[in-house]
Amino acid sequence: MTKRIVVLISGSGSNLQAIMDAIDAGQIDGRIEAVLSNKAEAYGLERARNSDIPTLVLKHTDFDSRESFDQAMIKQIDTYQPDLIVLAGFMRILTAEFVRHYNGRMFNIHPSLLPKYKGLHTHQRAIDAGDKEHGCTVHFVSEELDGGPLAIQGKVSIDLEDTSESLQQKVHKVEHIIYPQAVSLFCSGRLIWSDAGVTLDGKAAPTQGFQHDQI
Ligand code: GAR
Repeated sequence: MTKRIVVLISGSGSNLQAIMDAIDAGQIDGRIEAVLSNKAEAYGLERARNSDIPTLVLKHTDFDSRESFDQAMIKQIDTYQPDLIVLAGFMRILTAEFVRHYNGRMFNIHPSLLPKYKGLHTHQRAIDAGDKEHGCTVHFVSEELDGGPLAIQGKVSIDLEDTSESLQQKVHKVEHIIYPQAVSLFCSGRLIWSDAGVTLDGKAAPTQGFQHDQI
């Protein structure tokens, strides 16, 4: 059955766009029921409106605690009865209660080869460390920030002339491949996080997740 998806964003929403495009192309057996942003000016909201997807804005600054903000989000999100929550550049730390509420059905994408470089400024940190490769990871969300079990990874090479900006662009391109891929595999019931860990077609994921070009 077609899965119900709610996407959370804070900014440009290029990953949201990649997922919308994959749905339109018939590559995902899912439907985006709503897009929620904590910022009214997020460009991703316009992308959603252009595709007639309902949008919601909940400004975290209107709430006096992280808990009350997250509870308000849960209340709104659950009216759509989602099978999957997709964090696509949603730049707020979530409470444990929120994460537990969507346990096993919430993805995040992070611009690094996790477990390396959790947090911010990942591209510059990879360059500063002299790394030869970098990339992005789709992972299931656990209570640990950027720490849930890894599902799919995509790699890029770091060249001598790369700057933080050029690397970010390279990584973004791969994000737009692996996020729709992960959402598609989840929606078809092939990619699961259960007591057995993360599995794809019943096969356990390597610690670093599946490499996207080997699926
Ligand atoms: C993406 O690069 C994503 O990996 C990053 O935010 C960007 C959002 O871009 N997420 C994080 O850093 C989460 N820790 P987008 O709005 O164009 O999809």
